[in-house]
Amino acid sequence: MFNGKTIVLGVTGGIASYKAIQLCSMLTQAGATVRVMMTTSATKFVTPLTFQTITRQAVSTDTFEENNPSVVNHIDLADSADLIVIAPATANMIAKMAQGIADDMVSTTLLAATCPIIVAPAMNVHMLGNPAVQDNLRILRQRGIHFVDPSEGQLACGYVGKGRLAEPSHIFDYINKFMNGPKPLAGQRVLITAGGTVERIDPVRYISNDSSGKMAFALAEAAKQLGADVEVIAARTTVEAPGGVSVVRAMSADDMFEAVDKRFAQADIVIMAAAVADFKPKKQLAHKFKKTEGQLEIELEPTKDILMHVGHTKTNQYVVGFAAETEQLAHYAQEKLARKKCDLIVANQVSLPGVGFEQDTNAVEIYNTNGLVQAIAIASKQEIATGIWQAIIEQRSARAGGSL
Ligand code: CTP
Repeated sequence: MFNGKTIVLGVTGGIASYKAIQLCSMLTQAGATVRVMMTTSATKFVTPLTFQTITRQAVSTDTFEENNPSVVNHIDLADSADLIVIAPATANMIAKMAQGIADDMVSTTLLAATCPIIVAPAMNVHMLGNPAVQDNLRILRQRGIHFVDPSEGQLACGYVGKGRLAEPSHIFDYINKFMNGPKPLAGQRVLITAGGTVERIDPVRYISNDSSGKMAFALAEAAKQLGADVEVIAARTTVEAPGGVSVVRAMSADDMFEAVDKRFAQADIVIMAAAVADFKPKKQLAHKFKKTEGQLEIELEPTKDILMHVGHTKTNQYVVGFAAETEQLAHYAQEKLARKKCDLIVANQVSLPGVGFEQDTNAVEIYNTNGLVQAIAIASKQEIATGIWQAIIEQRSARAGGSL
């Protein structure tokens, strides 16, 4: 699996470092050259000798221990890596990475690295929830660092909650997918709209909706993993954008229309996952409306339908719409597909429990002009995103006569 690849495994000082031994063994058995670096704290939990014996490589624990005079160790480690994996990553190491601190072997090597970096955090549930840690995680995500999120369960400190290092087999699968996964969207430019638009009434009030942006961001992340260049046009969202994906803010339906119109011609695939307001206040008040001014009447007018515009003016682009319905899913979805001239429509029955806005899960039915293409039962939005991309890739390839 990893023949010819060098993976640098950074082990930092948490009790979960014992699980890094299994990960190290799995990567070595799968053919990778694994070079391990450890913080001094990590060596209090597990010994360098364990990793050295598994990998048959020297383990680096001290920035000043330069055993090979022909190279500078931390630069050589960073340069040799096709991938760096930090597992477990403590809150301390995450903070150092976010701030660019280089005061031990692991953080110094990370600062010199130009390869992709995967971080698997592990810590107490309250440490994970601490705003400082959350800020640091956000900074790193924005810089394109990849994460294998911790799982929930019994923690070594006695707490039960989120913070357990992901299982070694799960981290291994993530690495395998990351390095060896198919890249059917390589070279493709993908444009995705996200979130709920904000239609201003006055400077402090607006009309919006419950869209969180979770589904759109999951689609963006999956597209990136499949090799695409991804750009997201996002209105109001309540979750973090995935790392390495360019996000342009366009808050109102009008702003979003303009942002999409400007980029649409250069895109290969357009997914309209945003919940765009169908109506906006006809007039936006320049001042905050005071209740002493009497009754507030807001006259609404329709917004421009972005998907309709894109569908009717597309040339070669593959256009995917979304439909949120509470009844007659198939009927309304197909009617929308035809009216807005999309190639594919992803419909979700938002009245079902666990489906739609703000939820972490979704269940969808995907239609083309011939009818149902695929139904995906309730699953995480990440799994749904993978399924939607599979349908898009297959359908688009079929339209192009078997090639993209
Ligand atoms: N959409 C859009 N621009 C709008 C409204 C909707 O691009 N002004 C897109 C959404 O991003 C989504 C699709 O159109 O991909 C479905 O939107 P929806 O509001 O459900 O369509 P309508 O036909 O307006 O819905 P309904 O008939 O249910 O009111």
